[in-house]
Amino acid sequence: MNARITRIRIWDRPVRLFHWTLILLVGLSYASGKTGAWGLHYIAGYAILTLVLFRILWGVWGSENARFAHFLKSPLAALRQLAGFAKRDRDTETSHNPAGGWMVLILLSLLLAQGLTGLFANHDPGFSYSQHGPLALKVGEATQESLSAWHLAAQRYLVFAIALHVLAIMLYKLFKGHELVMPMLTGEKLLPEGTRPPRLAPGRLALGFLVIAGAAVFLFIRFF
Ligand code: HEM
Repeated sequence: MNARITRIRIWDRPVRLFHWTLILLVGLSYASGKTGAWGLHYIAGYAILTLVLFRILWGVWGSENARFAHFLKSPLAALRQLAGFAKRDRDTETSHNPAGGWMVLILLSLLLAQGLTGLFANHDPGFSYSQHGPLALKVGEATQESLSAWHLAAQRYLVFAIALHVLAIMLYKLFKGHELVMPMLTGEKLLPEGTRPPRLAPGRLALGFLVIAGAAVFLFIRFF
């Protein structure tokens, strides 16, 4: 329990940039959706889709601890983790903990659903003046209507999931004394000496994935 602690780099720059840019874009997307600034809303949506696609690629071939296979544990492990939520202990985690891993998956899935349904959303199908997503007129009116409803539903679930995400991080600090925000800012975490640092992938690989993700979103919208 009295092991000495040392500073270890756990989050690479791509993950940190992804996270903080995502927050800005989600804020922009929410505000532009509420105020009807549709040009901005579309740009934020395309950028969010690009980032989520990038994160999926990074979750398969990126840094060791950013990979889904590394941090997605069984639901039982997540429940066990939540059961010990209020117990103060030493943070030894070099990735997302089991419960946090599931939250990451939920957030990414909701963001993907939000972006994809937005492309086809049209809240007033049949009215030529109505504001609609760039691909809405390529599908039937019933599909437009149903995807618009999903777009609204995903937004509500997303707001709830984000609130839960931020609350969990605050409670981890309060109850367990785990500092999670600074590592997401600086990349470094204070961990027991002897902890093996995760193998971080090179930034140029992330850049390549970002270009692929952006191109995939562009081509999908252009040629669907
Ligand atoms: C729009 C709001 C937000 C969204 C959509 C969001 C989404 C995410 C996602 C997807 C991850 C996983 C990162 C990765 O593995 O690439 C994550 C992790 C994280 N987020 Fe957020 N986040 C939001 C707001 C915030 C805020 C406001 C904070 C600060 C209080 C925060 C702090 C963190 C931290 C500390 C982690 C790492 C948790 C851990 O160590 O397991 N997030 N977030």
